[in-house]
Amino acid sequence: MLTHRPRRLRQSGPMRNLVAQNRLAPADLILPVFVKEGAEQPIDISSMPGVQQHSMESLKAAARDAAAAGVGGIMLFGVPETLDARGTAGVDPNGILNVAIREVIAEVGDEMVVMADTCLDEFTDHGHCGVLDEAGNVDNDATNEIYARMAVAQAEAGVHVVSPSGMMDGQVGVIRVALDEAGYQHTAILAYSAKYASAFYGPFREAVDSALTGDRKTYQMDSANRTEAILETELDIQEGADMVMVKPAMSYLDILRDVADMSTVPVAAYQISGEYAMIEAAAANGWIEREPAMLESLTAIRRAGAQNILTYYATEAARLLA
Ligand code: PBG
Repeated sequence: MLTHRPRRLRQSGPMRNLVAQNRLAPADLILPVFVKEGAEQPIDISSMPGVQQHSMESLKAAARDAAAAGVGGIMLFGVPETLDARGTAGVDPNGILNVAIREVIAEVGDEMVVMADTCLDEFTDHGHCGVLDEAGNVDNDATNEIYARMAVAQAEAGVHVVSPSGMMDGQVGVIRVALDEAGYQHTAILAYSAKYASAFYGPFREAVDSALTGDRKTYQMDSANRTEAILETELDIQEGADMVMVKPAMSYLDILRDVADMSTVPVAAYQISGEYAMIEAAAANGWIEREPAMLESLTAIRRAGAQNILTYYATEAARLLA
């Protein structure tokens, strides 16, 4: 006779639902969006079916749809018309990202948390996340000075959360001081703390028309490393991060679990462009079922310890969960 029959709790939908240990909720999801300067119409991103570079109008509509579906946050990325070596358009109050912040805050600022990417790669003509020194290396401290000005410009535009994603040492501390000195004590920082150099960012490069040649391996983390994620997270929390992030998500669920276990602040994870593209491509070929795969992937990220999930599926997933 079998005393333990774990299948008893799997026998029906209501039973499984009753004992489910992890649940996805729309409020935990954050939708990343791209807005392209000068675009009259949204432009499809071929490697991310269903995702677009928005015009200002379609961006506002996407923000409204997300808010209506109960999505908790929106993360803005700008695609500027003009690039230069120092990413000047990122600091300019009239730059595309700062204009978009104002528009989205006016549209949905009372209903959802509005966040912006605080990084130079979308704005530099060489595509790196920072400025280069004479030798062509990314100059950590010179980059931090620009991040500080960029964060203040975003706060001036009304953003609720700035999100440094460039993996410069000390970036969170420099940004916190700059925000406070400028009077933006209430602007929060979501730090991309454990961000790995990943081949799965491929489609994002199309999404932001990236000019990058080479790679980001001198500033983003090496996928072989684990404890370094703890160090990076500890440093960011000490420097004043209000939330931390692990990125990518699906190939780094072990890291996410490690960080969730040690973090004293909320932990987010980013289901990145290549993860989205893989699910979409397999589903388009009929090799996997799209919606169950989407929800399973998000549940796995949740189970690994993410409070918040940045996902291109946010609005659709929120509707499915409602
Ligand atoms: C850098 C940044 C990247 C992503 C978000 N912020 C690209 C990179 O680090 O190369 C990738 C997001 C995705 O792939 O979905 N500003």
